[in-house]
Amino acid sequence: MDVVGYLLLTPVGTALVVGGLFLVILRRFLYRKGKSDSNLPPLPEVPGLPVVGNLLQLKEKKPHKTFTKWAETYGPVYSIRTGSTTLVVLNSNDVVKEAMVTRFPSISTRKLSKALQILTSDKTMVAISDYDEFHKTVKRHLLTHILGPNAQKRHRIHRDALIENTSKQLHALLKNRPLEPINFRELFESGLFGLAMKQTLGEDVDSIYVADLGTTMSRHEIFKCLVHDQMEGAIDVDWRDFFPYLNWIPNKSFEKKIKQMDIRRTAVMKSLVQKIREKSASKEGMQCYLDYLNSEGKTLSEKQIQMLLWEVIIETSDTTMVATEWAMYELGKDSKRQDRLYEEIRRVCGSSKITEENLHQLPYLYAIFQETLRVHSPVPIIPLRYVHEDTQLGGYFVPSGSEIAINIYGCNMDKNVWKNSEEWNPERFMGDKSDTMDLYKSMAFGGGKRACAGAIEAMTISRMAIGRLVQEFEWRVTDDQVDDVDTVGLTSRKLHPMLALITPRS
Ligand code: HEM
Repeated sequence: MDVVGYLLLTPVGTALVVGGLFLVILRRFLYRKGKSDSNLPPLPEVPGLPVVGNLLQLKEKKPHKTFTKWAETYGPVYSIRTGSTTLVVLNSNDVVKEAMVTRFPSISTRKLSKALQILTSDKTMVAISDYDEFHKTVKRHLLTHILGPNAQKRHRIHRDALIENTSKQLHALLKNRPLEPINFRELFESGLFGLAMKQTLGEDVDSIYVADLGTTMSRHEIFKCLVHDQMEGAIDVDWRDFFPYLNWIPNKSFEKKIKQMDIRRTAVMKSLVQKIREKSASKEGMQCYLDYLNSEGKTLSEKQIQMLLWEVIIETSDTTMVATEWAMYELGKDSKRQDRLYEEIRRVCGSSKITEENLHQLPYLYAIFQETLRVHSPVPIIPLRYVHEDTQLGGYFVPSGSEIAINIYGCNMDKNVWKNSEEWNPERFMGDKSDTMDLYKSMAFGGGKRACAGAIEAMTISRMAIGRLVQEFEWRVTDDQVDDVDTVGLTSRKLHPMLALITPRS
């Protein structure tokens, strides 16, 4: 049953309505008080219902699309109510940049949902932490060892292996099952997971005995536990998130489910760390992130070390795959643009395999990557930010206590900025007017102090994969997939994995 149905049918609903009405009155009182301190106008409000606010209008799990539609009526910045919380929604580049840069000091924290509180061990991650000393320290570790430009040079060997293996596996699949469509996601996702394990643990672990669960897990089971289950849990909704004044009512089944995910992840991470530490004594070669944190992160607890390693695993395994799969899907539908890319690669690389050194000579490949991020932003809405002191956005007064939803998808569909915004058209990033190195044009990587720390890695891997795949094969998506653009999850994964028919180029 959806949240609202539940609310209206149970005794909890009664408590909620009474408590909610009280809060609505209180909120109105406080809000008026806030407004009186400022000469700025209040935010436009999307009309909703008493108590539940706009929740009924957000039943579908794709709020970025609903927010974008509302922007056509209420403008680029407006407020809605999710239960007792005021949520300010930002839908244009200008107002998003204002939030990320100029007003950042007033909105640099987050209030997490119950699921995220548990799954992030209460903000023990670079990406989810508040902008505080912990954040600065662990971000420095992450950039120094994995994501910064020097660290990326050291990890080149792993990226090259990923691209080479992906190509080899495609050739093998084609040889064994020449007429069957290929599920590219399956093998690329697994390759990225391997890369993440090499970067964090120093090896692509094949299986592990998890003592706390009393079982041996295969690589596939480890992936499911550390990545898939956590991504699903992250968007799970506890109705109390919308009505914090009802936190005293237990929601045992929800808590049990999410805590179970956390327990399993902790058990797996603990065993992985133990296994690698045991080996490390006798190991030579490149230092992994775990070795680095053991020696440099002296103030970090064991739990914090586990979480920081896990963060790299989940972030590496998902968004880059999402972007690359969408790019291949678009190219698989569009043979003309695929030919144009192939010709560009042939002109630059001749008969040699594309390398990372070639990337800056391939503007059309870059345009394809950018346009894919624009149309299929892997992170359509940035995890909510919290306004901890009164501020303003887009010329409106924004009271403290509000939450902020940055709708990246909405910015990228803004008809005032992008002509025929829903059309996938890489040419819009080509030509004199386009600065091909402007990473933040599509807003897909966020901006300001919290801009994506993994942008260089994601851009490099995704472009190398797209380039190599098109250099070696001709791609065509199966006919039934031509309009199959539905998404699922926290990141905008394609709902159905792309199935493509591929032919080797001579
Ligand atoms: C196409 C791929 C990717 C996209 C579209 C993407 C998008 C984003 C966005 C929008 C943010 C900003 C969140 C905010 O403002 O709160 C972000 C932050 C972040 N991303 Fe990415 N990301 C991608 C790949 C990666 C990869 C591969 C990694 C690394 C393993 C990574 C690590 C991070 C980290 C650590 C942050 C937090 C930075 C901070 O808070 O200081 N991302 N990403």
